[in-house]
Amino acid sequence: MDYDALIRPGVGPMVPYAPGLRVSEVREKSGKDVIRKLSSNENPYGPFPSALAGMRTVLPYLNRYPDGAARELRRALAEKLGVEERFLMVGNGSNELLTLIAQAVVSPGDEVVFAWPSFVVYPICTQLTCGRAVKVPLTAEQVHDLPAMLAAITEDTKLVFVCNPNNPTGTMVTRAQFDEFVSALPDHVLLVLDEAYFEYVTSPEFPNGLDYFDGERPIVVLRTFSKIYSLAGARIGYGVAPEPLVRAVDKVREPFNVSTIAQVGAYYSLADDSEVERRRRENQEQKAYLYSSFDRLGISYVPSETNFVYMLTEKPVEVFEALLAEGIIVRDLGTSPALRVGIGTPEDTDATVAALTAAVAKLGPL
Ligand SMILES: Cc1ncc(COP(=O)(O)O)c(C=O)c1O
Repeated sequence: MDYDALIRPGVGPMVPYAPGLRVSEVREKSGKDVIRKLSSNENPYGPFPSALAGMRTVLPYLNRYPDGAARELRRALAEKLGVEERFLMVGNGSNELLTLIAQAVVSPGDEVVFAWPSFVVYPICTQLTCGRAVKVPLTAEQVHDLPAMLAAITEDTKLVFVCNPNNPTGTMVTRAQFDEFVSALPDHVLLVLDEAYFEYVTSPEFPNGLDYFDGERPIVVLRTFSKIYSLAGARIGYGVAPEPLVRAVDKVREPFNVSTIAQVGAYYSLADDSEVERRRRENQEQKAYLYSSFDRLGISYVPSETNFVYMLTEKPVEVFEALLAEGIIVRDLGTSPALRVGIGTPEDTDATVAALTAAVAKLGPL
């Protein structure tokens, strides 16, 4: 069989998503018992207690398919968010929704505009749909350059992704910047606003995407249960979108795309606002401590609205290896002179600061 002839030409040049190192791998390599995984922007604590209890109750019923329309969850989300159920889509992670939206909207040759560096799934789902990726560099402050993104839009543009706050830099666009962008956006373009880190944001200048959603305008707001709600392994995210788009996604998705476990975990998580608040506060405290340690060590970084910090370093490989030797996994961003360091427990932060202090002693200024 000639597999090159068999596999669609568009798939050939695609590069699979490269996940961070696995804990078991690093345990073996470093010889450390305690491994601190700060590379995938997960929450260090488990799912909410109410979610765990709820998920346990459905285990005996997993012989049945899930509710393909996620009715209970969509009802709960509608109430919580103050939007009608008909505007809600639920996916196997918000990652799936990014892909489904691209599949529903992008035809071969259409342009897809997004900032760079940003979430690596945007180029992947553009390639998957044979669209043309238009990458607009972040500003010197590592923020989305919204005027440049507007200028990059042409008649052939179908989709614009805005990641707010941005992964991997943790920066956000302000309400004033976003207002200007949205009001200048041409009608033929769908704006997908990826708010995966929404619950971690504390800035009063943050533009809540739902404030821009009116059911008519071509805007989709995506959020996830993978981050503050700690359900990354269950895979569930949601989107608020105009009804024709919800219906289009219903056509291209699998009939049972979200597992029962995930639906139930998400449903019960929604009821616990105090846990969200507690985690957001602790994340802020740990981030503040990390910033002050970076300052003391002379390490540059970009202030973040998320649960990770973009640490600027001319020695990313050496610092990555120094942390790894201590059992700490951070994200090496390939070509960027930076590492993405996740916020974990207080013990994780202490260990990271100790390892960075030792790295400075050994390697000089980072
Ligand atoms: C910006 C952004 N969007 C979407 C996702 C996908 O999250 P999930 O598919 O787990 O909901 C991530 C995950 O890291 C992310 O960083």
